[in-house]
Amino acid sequence: MSSVPEVVGVVGGGRMGVGIAHAFLTAGSTVIVLERDSATAATAQESLCRAIDASVARQSTSESRGALIARSSTTVDVAHLATAELAVEAVPEDLELKLEMLRRVESSIPTDAWLCSNSSSLSIDLLAGSLARPERFCGLHFFNPVPNSSLVEIVRGRESLGELIDNARGWVAAIGKTPILVRDSPGFASSRLGVVIALEAMRMLEEGVGSAEDIDTAMVLGYKFPVGPLRLTDMVGLDVRLGIAEYLERTIGPRFAVPEILRKRVAEGKLGRKSGEGFFRWADE
Ligand SMILES: NC(=O)c1ccc[n+]([C@@H]2O[C@H](COP(=O)([O-])OP(=O)(O)OC[C@H]3O[C@@H](n4cnc5c(N)ncnc54)[C@H](O)[C@@H]3O)[C@@H](O)[C@H]2O)c1
Repeated sequence: MSSVPEVVGVVGGGRMGVGIAHAFLTAGSTVIVLERDSATAATAQESLCRAIDASVARQSTSESRGALIARSSTTVDVAHLATAELAVEAVPEDLELKLEMLRRVESSIPTDAWLCSNSSSLSIDLLAGSLARPERFCGLHFFNPVPNSSLVEIVRGRESLGELIDNARGWVAAIGKTPILVRDSPGFASSRLGVVIALEAMRMLEEGVGSAEDIDTAMVLGYKFPVGPLRLTDMVGLDVRLGIAEYLERTIGPRFAVPEILRKRVAEGKLGRKSGEGFFRWADE
């Protein structure tokens, strides 16, 4: 039977990091979340407690709140990851920041530990370039929101060991999710497909083909998408999707050209759900 690592370090306790920590925690791991300062560490701890409360309330765990809290901690000291069997990096999608954090984390975890990145789009081989042990590194791309998403994309780098890929499949199964395996390529499978549809939906909105609601409904009712591409962009963050589209345009080509409407909304601070407005208004939700 697949099992999770005994100790998992999660680097960056934001939206994704907390979800990832919670997934491993409720599957039996001890989790340590590394944050950048004491204020963000406190916020991450609160978010993790809320996630624990929610899973206890919906009885998706057989463990008590106390037992789960006792196996989780946050820290600002990378040396606290010294016992981690696996570290998952989930800091913002910024190449330089990720390179620096991966380097720091690799030098603090045991030499036989595994290291993964939750990057949505950055090349795993590029990220591995900063590492002393690139063979122990791969992508482990979770979806948002982590508790409700059953997919995890395992991204195999040029040097990732087969043993790591086998382990990753096992970890994903042990946290109750389904892995897919893709080789390292820009946007992997999911971001590349998700973003190309979203960019086309934005161009259609820009050209006045239909309203945001109607364009989304075409995909929800016509193709059984759980959420339309524009609403999903609001949920992910327009700024986040802009960053990924720019990267895909640079690496894959002009079919990922960024629509003007996306640039304009980001420049106006209309970032989606987190700012109250993107392609939809979220004030009352
Ligand atoms: N949000 C999504 O929908 C989504 C989905 C899949 C993957 N991702 C990827 O997950 C990663 C994180 O995204 P997110 O949405 O959770 O971002 P986020 O901004 O919510 O969280 C990032 C966290 O990293 C912390 N951080 C920043 N610098 C740090 C440092 N030096 N040391 C430790 N912690 C630091 C921040 O304080 C923050 O809590 C990105 O690579 C993103 O592309 C995001």
